[in-house]
Amino acid sequence: MRIYREKNYEAMSQTAANIVAAQVKVKPDCLLGLATGSSPVGMYGVLAEKFRRGELDFSKVRSVNLDEYVGLAAWHPQSYRYFMRENLFSHVNIEPSNTHLPDGTATDPEEECRRYDRILEELGRVDLQVLGLGHNGHIGFNEPGDIFEKSTHVVNLQDSTIQANARFFDSFDQVPRRAITMGIASIMRARCILLLVSGESKAEIVKTALTGDITPRVPASVLQLHPNVMVVGDEEALKYL
Ligand code: F6R
Repeated sequence: MRIYREKNYEAMSQTAANIVAAQVKVKPDCLLGLATGSSPVGMYGVLAEKFRRGELDFSKVRSVNLDEYVGLAAWHPQSYRYFMRENLFSHVNIEPSNTHLPDGTATDPEEECRRYDRILEELGRVDLQVLGLGHNGHIGFNEPGDIFEKSTHVVNLQDSTIQANARFFDSFDQVPRRAITMGIASIMRARCILLLVSGESKAEIVKTALTGDITPRVPASVLQLHPNVMVVGDEEALKYL
């Protein structure tokens, strides 16, 4: 595990973007695993800037996202499809047909999980998987539980996750209670993982996840078993490491 300790969110976003940019340059048709949330927003901004400056070409890049809320359509401002369009896809030359997210409006979410697994299977191994870290140790929306869920599945979001996500909605009641997420095995299959952590509120869980017991009670702890993890964080989030 390599740890990049950066001064602040801006520096962390630069470093993370440099890592993704290197991946795209080395392998122009790479498969990127993408995350939403606050942690990668700055990184996506830097990537968009690199594209504007003519330093990056996304025309052959393919992407799969970790998760999507059940019930939110692509046009909903809080859907992850919308987030990706706003923060990255509409700013670079990635082909929309090369971008993949679970469909939150599928009439049968369980069937949608199987469809998403088939897409993951067809696309092959993710070259670089971007992850954020939930305060409860979740990655994607793999919430703490008794087992590491292997494949794409529907999750009931925990209260702490709903609470954390409420900042993006007008009220707590509007936050979806369920999501579709890639499973832990799919995440672990990536050749390389880029974990982004920012802010003091993550410091405790960063230490627990990366140095504590490996247990499905702290889903991110499984990353200790991955051979190629880069953690890029600001000083506050990494202060106990
Ligand atoms: C988002 C995702 C989540 C977030 C996590 C951290 O696609 O999969 O696991 O990465 O909840 O969120 P932020 O970055 O907002 O603290």
